[in-house]
Order: sequence, then C-alpha cells, then structure tokens
Amino acid sequence: MGAGIIGVGYYAPEKVLTNADLEKMMDTSDEWIRTRTGIEERRIAPDEMDTSDMAYFAAEKALAHAGISAKDIDLILVATVTPDRPFPSVACMLQERLGAVNAAALDISAACAGFMYGVVTASQFIDNGAYKYILVVGAEKLSKIIDWTDRNTAVLFGDGAGAVVMGPVSPGRGILSFELGADGTGGKHLYQDEYIIMNGREVFKFAVRQMGESSLNVLEKAGLSKNDVDFLIPHQANIRIMEAARQRLELPEEKMSTTIRRYGNTSAASIPISLAEEFEAGKIKDDDVIVMVGFGGGLTWGAIALRWGR
Ligand code: UT7
Repeated sequence: MGAGIIGVGYYAPEKVLTNADLEKMMDTSDEWIRTRTGIEERRIAPDEMDTSDMAYFAAEKALAHAGISAKDIDLILVATVTPDRPFPSVACMLQERLGAVNAAALDISAACAGFMYGVVTASQFIDNGAYKYILVVGAEKLSKIIDWTDRNTAVLFGDGAGAVVMGPVSPGRGILSFELGADGTGGKHLYQDEYIIMNGREVFKFAVRQMGESSLNVLEKAGLSKNDVDFLIPHQANIRIMEAARQRLELPEEKMSTTIRRYGNTSAASIPISLAEEFEAGKIKDDDVIVMVGFGGGLTWGAIALRWGR
C-alpha cells in the first residue's frame, strides 16, 4: 500500500475583491494586473473570520469526501504563514473544533511551499505504518499581513483554505515521488516584517527555474515522462510563472489548473484549493498522473508526482 490523497475540500470567503475595486484603492489598473499576473479577482475574509475558521470549513469537506470521522485522524498538519496567533497552532485549534481527539497536531512554516511539505511529511508516516489517516491543510488569511498601500504586493494575494485527507491507497496509486528543497540565502527576497515585503523580480526568476526543474525531477524519480502527465497543479502565484512550467512539461493549456484568476495567490492554500476545485469539476480521474509543484518564501520549494485514486 502507498500513501495517497483520499479526500479533498476547500473554502473561499464570499467577499470578492476585483481589480476594479483595487483601482479605486491605489495607483494600479485591471489591465496591468491581468497581463502581469493573470489575476482578475481574489477573496477577502471578513474581520471576524481567521485562518483557523477557513481551515475548519475546508477540513470538514475533506473528511466528508474521504468518508472518515474526525476521531480516525492520527495527525493534523496545517501549512500557514498567517496563523491566528503564534501559539497555540492552527492545527491544535482545528483538532479541538473537529473533535479529532486522537490526533497529534502541528503547523508547518514553509510559506507557499508549505502544503507540499505537509503532504510529503504525511506520506512518510503513512508509508512506514506509524499513522493511517492524516489531515493536511493549507490555510491563509493573507489580507491581514498585506500593506494595502503597496501596489507591488497588495494586488497579488487573497484568502482561503484547502484540505486533503491522506491515507493508505491501492498499490501503484498515491505518491510516486517527491522533491523538497530550501535556499535560505534567498530569504531576503520574500519575507514578512509587519507586512509582506517582496522583491518580485528575484522571486520570479527563481520560481520560473524551480517550478520547471522540480516538476521534471519528480517525473524522472517516478520513472515517468512528460507525456504521462494528465494534470499539473502549480502554486498559483503568477500566470506567467505557471505558463513557463507548463511549457517545460509540454502540456496543453487544459491540463493545468489556473484558479489564480479567481483567487489570486493564496500561498499555502493555493495548491489544495486548486486540487479540490479541479476534482469537483471532474477534471481529475482515477489513475491520472498529477504533478503538484510549489515555491515560496524561505526560499522553499516542493513537488510531488501522484497517481490519483484510493
Ligand atoms: O507565492 C510567491 C510570491 N511571490 C511571487 O510569486 C511573485 C513573483 N513575481 C511576480 O509575480 C512579478 O515579479 C510581479 C507580478 C510581482 C511584478 O511583475 P513584473 O513584470 O516583474 O513587474 P516589475 O516588478 O518589473 O515592475 C514593472 C513596473 C514597475 O514600474 P517601473 O519601475 O517600470 O516604472 C512597477 O512599479 O510595474 C509597476 N507596478 C505596477 N503597476 C501597476 C508594480 N506593481 C504594479 C501594480 N499596478 N500593481
């Protein structure tokens, strides 16, 4: 038995902030944002809703889809850079709210690559038999660390959460290979002081290189070629970065998730939101080969190749 994803769910706050709304708040334009980033709108959580609330809504759906009860979960991993507070962790808050009384719980800090780090970590516990069911969540309320006067960053980000339940799956299915990496020397290019500070051009160059390379690396490790890929789910940071990765894999447009148009960059939540949405839209079927790849502040990166199905 391998370790695979057996349930997915996501939550996006109702309030939509469009590019036209941003035009009224700062010196920017719909045209600039669309052509430079691919983003058309993003969701913003209300004041009273924090990261743990969105994590909870997404987790409930993933548990229902997996058909397991919260008491069956052995471990909760929440990837986030916007926890409700430094501690207790969002994972512990989630453990209480779900009633996951048998689960250990911790948050993972690997910025936008956090969900990839979570999935890979979870897969190790399942592979070695220590745990059976693990809840992995990516959840962010980035709106609370955005400087709404800085057009370089304010137009890029949004709020939301995505969750998966991982567990044992049939031989040949589940996670086939992975790659995780970090380069602390690049930490200065993307970090939080009070707000998000970013050297966009440096992050862009790094991301274009890393997304393509990591995707090809996990395919090679899994003994697969570009032709075997049925669907690519890249971290939704910038459509131009995503397009570069798609072209390295020589995939047609319809084989890549582009939820960035409606959600912007939701950091650790972007990959699980995309996965859940694409699954619900019927784009992901049993035995499909899926590549997920992310990068983020740290700098960090991670990728997996996965064969879908239980
Ligand atoms: O999850 C990981 C997080 N971060 C990323 O993935 C970010 C990676 N980087 C990027 O996505 C891109 O670098 C950005 C979208 C941030 C910027 O795009 P760019 O094509 O690299 O633009 P640029 O930084 O080279 O700026 C071009 C111009 C500048 O004006 P000048 O100096 O040429 O006069 C900026 O001031 O665009 C200006 N600009 C804007 N104009 C209108 C920057 N932001 C905006 C804006 N509206 N919101």
